[in-house]
Amino acid sequence: MSRIVYVNGDWLPEAEAKVSVFDRGFLMADGVYEVTSVLGGKLMDFDGHYARLVRSLTELEMESPLSRDEFLAIHREIVDRNGIDEGLVYLQVTRGNPGDRDFAFPDPATTAPTLVLFTQSKPGLADSPAARTGIKVISIPDIRWGRRDIKTVQLLYPSMGKMMAKKAGADDAWMVEDGVVTEGTSNNAYIVKGNRIITRDLSTDILHGITRAAVLRFAREAQMEVEERPFTLDEAKAADEAFVTSASTFVMPVVAIDGQAVGAGTPGPVATRLREIYIDESRKAAI
Ligand code: PDD
Repeated sequence: MSRIVYVNGDWLPEAEAKVSVFDRGFLMADGVYEVTSVLGGKLMDFDGHYARLVRSLTELEMESPLSRDEFLAIHREIVDRNGIDEGLVYLQVTRGNPGDRDFAFPDPATTAPTLVLFTQSKPGLADSPAARTGIKVISIPDIRWGRRDIKTVQLLYPSMGKMMAKKAGADDAWMVEDGVVTEGTSNNAYIVKGNRIITRDLSTDILHGITRAAVLRFAREAQMEVEERPFTLDEAKAADEAFVTSASTFVMPVVAIDGQAVGAGTPGPVATRLREIYIDESRKAAI
């Protein structure tokens, strides 16, 4: 079934939706994005995603094209128009189409941003078979740029990382820099040692995951011990458990790193419990 997508104020069948060849998102990867999950037709962590969108735009000297309430209305309408029960809303804002290729930013007074939204239906997002078995990751060097806290559409290296994982018979890759893990190609990385959950502290080195913020809050509320600091690959391989978080996978257990089993090599109790708590609580708070 053809989707209805949103492009700069218009609702269009996906085949009719078009963006200029001069769009800076296309030519320069000059744009930012958000992915918000939908469960039971409702938006999970919407306000967190909206806040991060505004932050990404601000860091790149772009204005938010719409207010929080306008974004919320469009998100709700796109979920409705496409009958999404479980799935994702993808949103992208680029610096627009200045009508030619030029490295310098165009004047925002004459070049409006391009705003695009589309949905991805994912039945079984909450009750995911992968969450029951866990995923396998490989380690790769982190050679991305230095502002990974901005959610830009420059996703070539993460795509290459997923392909490296696929070729190695794994599901995803964890990126390593200066001997410590930064994050997964499209998720935040965690290990569990004893009763402590360890995940890298926030900086410009990683994306400030919205799921990460919620999961750490729920973990602390459940009296679990959380340590925000870098961890090495060796520490991860010797951990009791490992997992990742993102809007598209929630909490996903990691059962092997570079072919070596983590803990028992099956989803651990902490990751499993956190997944349940995150899904239950975020579903209750979804709007
Ligand atoms: N990726 N780190 C990176 C590099 C990411 O791309 C993502 C999200 C995360 C997790 O952030 P959040 O919990 O806010 O989804 C961490 C999205 C899902 C994607 O690119 O599809």
